[in-house]
Amino acid sequence: MAAEQIQIFDTTLRDGEQVPGCKLNKEQKLIIAEQLEHLGVDVIEAGFPVSSPGDFDAVAAIASQVKNATVCGLTRAVENDIDVAAAALKTAKKPRIHTGIGTSESHIKFKFNSNKEAIIERAYKAVAYAKKYVEDVEFYAEDAGRTENEYLARVCEAAIKAGATVLNIPDTTGYCLPEEYGAKIKYLKEHVDGIDKAILSCHCHNDLGLATANSIAGAINGARQIECTINGVGERAGNTALEEVVMVMKQHPNMNLFTNIQTQQLYRTSQLVSEHMGVNTQPNKAIVGANAFAHSSGIHQDGVIKNRQTYEIIDPKDVGVTESAIVLTARSGRAALAYRAKLVGYELTKLQLDEVYQSFLTFADRQKEVHDDDIHRIIEASKVYSEIVIN
Ligand code: KIV
Ligand code: ZN
Repeated sequence: MAAEQIQIFDTTLRDGEQVPGCKLNKEQKLIIAEQLEHLGVDVIEAGFPVSSPGDFDAVAAIASQVKNATVCGLTRAVENDIDVAAAALKTAKKPRIHTGIGTSESHIKFKFNSNKEAIIERAYKAVAYAKKYVEDVEFYAEDAGRTENEYLARVCEAAIKAGATVLNIPDTTGYCLPEEYGAKIKYLKEHVDGIDKAILSCHCHNDLGLATANSIAGAINGARQIECTINGVGERAGNTALEEVVMVMKQHPNMNLFTNIQTQQLYRTSQLVSEHMGVNTQPNKAIVGANAFAHSSGIHQDGVIKNRQTYEIIDPKDVGVTESAIVLTARSGRAALAYRAKLVGYELTKLQLDEVYQSFLTFADRQKEVHDDDIHRIIEASKVYSEIVIN
């Protein structure tokens, strides 16, 4: 069976940027949008145009700049939102309006003080209204994760009848378990009339740390678009991390799913977003964290020096990281010390290594990490220094 493509819908500039402290100005958004194109994302959600004049301008500027990707603007199921989004997207080569409404019981009751039938009607009308402006209309059923499947299917049917090309099934509160989210997508594939006219999209939040697992479960069960952000930035605990879902599919070819992402651009994109947002990525962040390819325990270092694949499932070069790091700490063994000493110019014999290793341990017990200049100092102070071959 031929592998199928998963569209990557990046919402760093919308769901990611709406987080306090992550605000970007128009110039920064343009820089990031340009890099997202180099990365190869299929859709860039550029903002929520009605939310502020600044966001409108940024979406309009991105719409003019982007050459290949679809540029998308978010709206509520409100005609004025849709008018404003359409105006912001006017110059886009491939514009998409993303409109929708909450469908869970709590959204219907507390947010809208409404009822199920009225929500279906609003969903239909919003999509039909957006269709006056653009061919490509994505509908979101907010809090779909906590919406009962049977009702969700009826909402989706209405959106398709009105012309939706994509149905976004957000787990807005990050509540679902992977099996449950996967089953929801499967249910919709099997029960929504006209489902072949639209693609299903996963939009998962990370409140329980399950966003990546849920998105992958969605894709396995038939979703063909994943909505995600660089570094997983986003509301509360964040959105699905783009780098994670992309690498899951790349590292598991038996899933028969692929993306257009140029994975060698992942690290660079992560750094760019974290620099502009002023938010550091946690060191142990999968794929792009500072420690993602760093090895510090003696057993692991020994293995990696013999063959990288013993403790690494991804070649760091595949995500744009130049090489794996052997970090020297008091938990490092002789192999790691010899390896790092060689990198900075010393060929140690076994006896010389035994001698230098003792001073190294004493030093490392006092320091968190032993750096290159420390290695020079330790070796220069050792009894065997005069005998060591220096390259
Ligand atoms: O999480 C969510 O439900 C959203 C929608 C507005 C798409 O971000
Ligand atoms: Zn969201």
